Amino acid sequence: MSEAEVARASSYSPYSKFAVGAALLGASGKIHHGANVENASYGLTCCAERAAVFKAVSEGERSFVAVAVTARAGHGAPPCGACRQVLAEFSPSMWVYWRDARDRILKKRLSALLPDQFELDHGRKRR
Ligand code: THU
Repeated sequence: MSEAEVARASSYSPYSKFAVGAALLGASGKIHHGANVENASYGLTCCAERAAVFKAVSEGERSFVAVAVTARAGHGAPPCGACRQVLAEFSPSMWVYWRDARDRILKKRLSALLPDQFELDHGRKRR
């Protein structure tokens, strides 16, 4: 979670003013940071979690142990549905850590947060 705080410092969120940071722990042991990057055309915004996944995969890491997500104090920050699907593409049973509105750290398996993820070809992955 402290790595997610570091990632959050790079958020570009002038429209919502809601900075989010994600720290994705790869099977290699490397921690990949991601922050939300907004756009004047709001729908083009990319969440912190997806920024972290895209960065990591672009650098050759495809297997993840855990992700921690943090937003501003007093706000829960579990990953949105779209990010759950993107995370699940690579490691459906990774641990997901986030803070609730009272600043407690919660954790659940991604498979519990996203049962029945969408898959093409009945689970066969194309890599
Ligand atoms: N956001 C994330 O970065 N992660 C999520 O899981 C949900 C929302 C960002 C997107 C947008 O920049 C801001 O939070 C407000 O929705």
